[in-house]
Amino acid sequence: MQNVIFYFTGTGNSLQLAQGIAEVLGNCEVINIAKHSGDIPTGVERAGFVFLVYFGGLPGIAHAFLKNLSIQGDPYLFCVANCGGSSGVFLKQTAHYLRQKGKTLQAGTSILMPENFILLYDRFGEERERMLFTNAEQKIAELGVTIRGKQAAAFEYAGNVPFRYVGGLFNRAFIGLAAGLDRHFHISDRCIGCGKCERICGVGNIVLRERKPVWNHHCELCMGCINVCPVKSIDFGRLTQKKERYINPNVTLL
Ligand SMILES: Cc1cc2nc3c(=O)[nH]c(=O)nc-3n(C[C@H](O)[C@H](O)[C@H](O)COP(=O)(O)O)c2cc1C
Repeated sequence: MQNVIFYFTGTGNSLQLAQGIAEVLGNCEVINIAKHSGDIPTGVERAGFVFLVYFGGLPGIAHAFLKNLSIQGDPYLFCVANCGGSSGVFLKQTAHYLRQKGKTLQAGTSILMPENFILLYDRFGEERERMLFTNAEQKIAELGVTIRGKQAAAFEYAGNVPFRYVGGLFNRAFIGLAAGLDRHFHISDRCIGCGKCERICGVGNIVLRERKPVWNHHCELCMGCINVCPVKSIDFGRLTQKKERYINPNVTLL
């Protein structure tokens, strides 16, 4: 394979971006880091990373992936910070991991996508989401030109400027907490035992027992399970009871 893109997603936005870029590049494999370990073999010409921005930086699973990633040969390297508002230190963190392997992140961009962090924010609404999808297509087309030409490009950040400096502390603090926070997920008697929460969970943290989900405390807090439930039976404490759910309508997750 000439090109490869690694992604991690909770609700599908990163997959949409990864697939969009893959289509523009052609001859490109799109790989979910929750299912594969990282190895870029010799002969790959371009390799990219598309993850959701998570508490001001990379998700925990992406930290581990980039740290352990082995890169043979000398591919052109790029990344996309898929965010709801602010990309924080995501690009700097990615560049740092690659630099430790003697590699350079040649292009890093931020793309605003619909918010999925239902614990803090309400859903944007369909009109705003459609607008974001249109803008994302435009950004993908522009990025495609840069990546195809293997051009070095200035990093493009999004949102809050102080977050680009202090986001690292915030990011590390929350990653440490995330795994066990799943104890706050609970289900109501609306649960129909469909198993979608179990299937969307990229890291196998949810197991159905007697057709009801049980969370096993190695959660990435990606918000896939709570958003995918077709009957809104999953809540996180009392934070989410009145909030609308979001799943990217442009990709197939299950
Ligand atoms: C736990 C968590 C933390 C998040 N933190 C941020 C953040 O710091 N900045 C931001 O812009 N978006 C943040 N988001 C929003 C997501 O990055 C955004 O909605 C993204 O498009 C979701 O992508 P996905 O569908 O691939 O999971 C966060 C989402 C989650 C679940």
